[in-house]
Amino acid sequence: MTLLAKRKERSIVPRMYYITTAIDYTNGPPHIGHAYEKVLADVLARWHRMKGEEVYFLTGVDQHGQKVQQTAEKLGITPQEHVDNITAKFLALWERLGISNDGWASTTDPRHKACVQKILTNLKDRGQLYKKSYKGFYSVRQEQFLTDKERDAEGSFGPEWGEVVELEEENWYFRLTDHVEWMKKFVEKSSGFVLPAFRKAEVLNAIDFDSDLCISRPKSRLSWGIELPFDPEFVTYVWFDALINYVSFAGYLAEPDSGLPEFSKLWPADCEVIGKDILVPAHGVYWPAMLHAMGFSDEEMPTLLVHGWWNINGEKMSKSIGNVVDPNLLAEQFGPEPVRYYLVRDITTGKDANFDADRLVMLYNTELANDLGNLCNRSINMTRRYCDSVISGAEEYDDEASKALRVTMDQAVTLFSKYMDDNMVSDALAALNAQVSACNAYIEQQQPWQLAKDEAAAPRLRCVLRHLLECFAPRRATSSAASCRTLPPASWTSSTPRTCSGAARRIRWPGESSPPGTASMIRLPSSPAFSRKRKRPNWLKKRPGRPKNKADSRECLRILRQIPAGPVLPGRHL
Ligand code: MSP
Repeated sequence: MTLLAKRKERSIVPRMYYITTAIDYTNGPPHIGHAYEKVLADVLARWHRMKGEEVYFLTGVDQHGQKVQQTAEKLGITPQEHVDNITAKFLALWERLGISNDGWASTTDPRHKACVQKILTNLKDRGQLYKKSYKGFYSVRQEQFLTDKERDAEGSFGPEWGEVVELEEENWYFRLTDHVEWMKKFVEKSSGFVLPAFRKAEVLNAIDFDSDLCISRPKSRLSWGIELPFDPEFVTYVWFDALINYVSFAGYLAEPDSGLPEFSKLWPADCEVIGKDILVPAHGVYWPAMLHAMGFSDEEMPTLLVHGWWNINGEKMSKSIGNVVDPNLLAEQFGPEPVRYYLVRDITTGKDANFDADRLVMLYNTELANDLGNLCNRSINMTRRYCDSVISGAEEYDDEASKALRVTMDQAVTLFSKYMDDNMVSDALAALNAQVSACNAYIEQQQPWQLAKDEAAAPRLRCVLRHLLECFAPRRATSSAASCRTLPPASWTSSTPRTCSGAARRIRWPGESSPPGTASMIRLPSSPAFSRKRKRPNWLKKRPGRPKNKADSRECLRILRQIPAGPVLPGRHL
């Protein structure tokens, strides 16, 4: 009986929303490509928590491999020391960016190693793994076997491969080809395996495999990996280590006292957030084949959410090109919230976008400081000044303009929810921004500062302020712990983002009945959100034209680095 069938039969284990990300290689520090993926997953995790779902959010690091081993050798330290140093940088960045992960996957964790080894043993026992000798051309520099795909137009291997020798090596193989027919059928008929849907064709095209997957490296060549339990001269290589993190850290085959979650509550993953570069063959082909071989059914396959890249002038960010943008630098200059906002606001999920610091500044000044910040601050200040920070008496006044604002609010929330459920964060934000504009127009129309002068207009004034404060709530999904507290009303009193769920429901519109104990009362925070826009920073005026090539983009980054520390822009949130 499959796991899912068992769970259904018992129907006692409540499901959690399980969201994961790719685990980042620890051969270099994080850049904004890594940050985007984690922020995107975090925004989605917060959204599901807001909806009242129990969420388990896992992210982590991929710590084994050749590059780690080589870099550690060069640095004269152990691979473990090297990965610990780099892992610390990832952890510090996620903390800074308010990534609210529940679990942390690091592939040197003994619990992960034990799970990988159990899976390998099971697969070997079931005849899914075998050892064979392979003879082929081997690049000494790149330390990999080459195929005909690597040959140039003249049929030779180019200089990038360095010395190429003929080599014969024994290795362990996974019977990938056993699963090809099943995979074709599964991917073809499934509507939720890979999102956005346009990526499905890519997976289907990649399934035509006529050879099995090599899953090992001899220790003489690579020692920094997980040892094969049945052949200690070998370690498992790349995917049979990395992909398994999604199940190992979800508690698959874990010891009862492992401290890991209950697997049956999490699996199958509702959303594995990955970049387009690791869709095929790794996540789209190897991963379902591995799961299938392990005995998981069609219903137990995860959903892959495939995002595009943040590029710099059309090129993927990469250390070797030298065009990476350090998210720490951005967070230092702009504050973590605007960086999070920009990373999910200026890209469509699934598509690529061009990173542009100019646009980050522009969007901060317009959408955050001017529109949202202004709305929050004006509303909070007026509530403090005119109503002693307490709004009450929801039913005492209503008018057409307020009704109209409620209608646009309902529409905005409906649209926002729909887009968030579809993982389309930038569209969801557009729906919210439209409501922010509607609120700012409502303020101008209602002129609360005039109403405050007339005692008889007090019920109307309270009604106006109440409507304004209500409109902040949906912002929570993109916010980190800090700004989560800016949102009314329950979230203001909580110190962790995980308790935000259901807050939007706590305020009742006039005419709605309030549940007992949740009176129409809003307690206000003591400091402003996204305070007013200041002057544009000088460095932007002096900035050279749009960077067109590598040298220009380096110049742009050099200038970015010269910006004095501290809030160049009004980056203080509550
Ligand atoms: N370790 C593997 C993944 C194993 S998952 C079982 C890996 N690591 S990575 O560090 O190279 O990439 C981690 C994630 O960051 C991938 O999903 C990748 O697509 C994403 N990004 C890396 N650069 C990126 C951009 N420039 N833009 C957006 N995301 C990109 O692959």
